[in-house]
Amino acid sequence: MADPPVTISEHEVESLLQYSELTTRLEKALGKFSRGEVVQPVRTTVPLQKHNGFLGLMPTYIEHDGVLCTKLVCFYKREDGSTLPSTRATVVLLDPEYGSVKAVMDGEVITGMRTAAVSAISAKLLMRPEAEVLAILGTGKQALSHYNVFTEMFSFKEVRVWSRTKDRAEKFMHSVTGPVTPCVSVEEAVKGADVIVTVTRCTEPVLFGQWVKPGAHVAAVGACRPNWRELDDVLMKEAVVYTDSRQGATTESGDVILSGAEVFAELGDVINGTKPAHREKTTVFKSLGMGVEDAVSAELVFDQWKAKNSQP
Ligand SMILES: NC(=O)c1ccc[n+]([C@@H]2O[C@H](COP(=O)([O-])OP(=O)(O)OC[C@H]3O[C@@H](n4cnc5c(N)ncnc54)[C@H](OP(=O)(O)O)[C@@H]3O)[C@@H](O)[C@H]2O)c1
Repeated sequence: MADPPVTISEHEVESLLQYSELTTRLEKALGKFSRGEVVQPVRTTVPLQKHNGFLGLMPTYIEHDGVLCTKLVCFYKREDGSTLPSTRATVVLLDPEYGSVKAVMDGEVITGMRTAAVSAISAKLLMRPEAEVLAILGTGKQALSHYNVFTEMFSFKEVRVWSRTKDRAEKFMHSVTGPVTPCVSVEEAVKGADVIVTVTRCTEPVLFGQWVKPGAHVAAVGACRPNWRELDDVLMKEAVVYTDSRQGATTESGDVILSGAEVFAELGDVINGTKPAHREKTTVFKSLGMGVEDAVSAELVFDQWKAKNSQP
């Protein structure tokens, strides 16, 4: 008889996940993905027309590691000022031999931390070594997780943040532990920046190539539908474009599909040494998020949970 599934709350996930171990596991997982060692169909989306949203199903199997997992995530395009959550995610970890559920855990912290950790891996691989200025566009959940991991992993001299309202940028500044400069325009925030993170819910371009310093690295995290954009054509065409999944990007990313930009490599190709990291050029990492990232994060949470609960 299989053990009954454990339920791990958002608060517990938060206390069990650390960026240092998470980034190590994610880097290995990205390499495995690009070597074809992960079974991961492109996410299935079910439109929730009445609620202006989608349900995304993200199943993944890593046979070598015995990890079977699926994330269920609902995401919504909310009206401005809405207090309803714009995403809700749950991660289910299964036993691949018996098909039984091992754990059901909140997926919000996992989504926030794994997405930010993968962007940080992209910066580690693609930004210039002398990078000093980080700009974050957006002040929501992803902005906060990106701030946390980027300031933990790198030593930027300045971190800037932009939001549509000055209020939100200032609120973000007060919510973090380190220094942040709030900016009133995107142009002001990205001027001279070495690394730019876009974590908005924009559906039209918000970052324009003419403002981006040559040689900068952009981690583009929002716009995960084929007709949504965060970056303009100039930036997409001038930059060397990397992604987490080539198949995902050419199916789901409006920035890639609508600009007609070519995807140069997956991050896993760089990790595996089969494609170069063009640090000297302007680079875009187009992040769509992958089931394998949730799977290794959930496995890490479960490992930590077992270790904690087996202590006398
Ligand atoms: N690639 C991945 O793996 C992955 C994973 C999770 C999420 N995402 C994507 O990341 C993005 C951010 O997610 P989140 O969870 O941080 O969302 P969030 O908490 O709702 O924050 C969204 C941010 O975008 C801003 N924003 C919304 N509409 C905008 C517009 N038209 N122009 C400029 N800014 C706008 C919001 O500003 P206000 O406060 O002014 O509304 C807020 O700062 C979303 O697009 C989400 O789909 C990607």
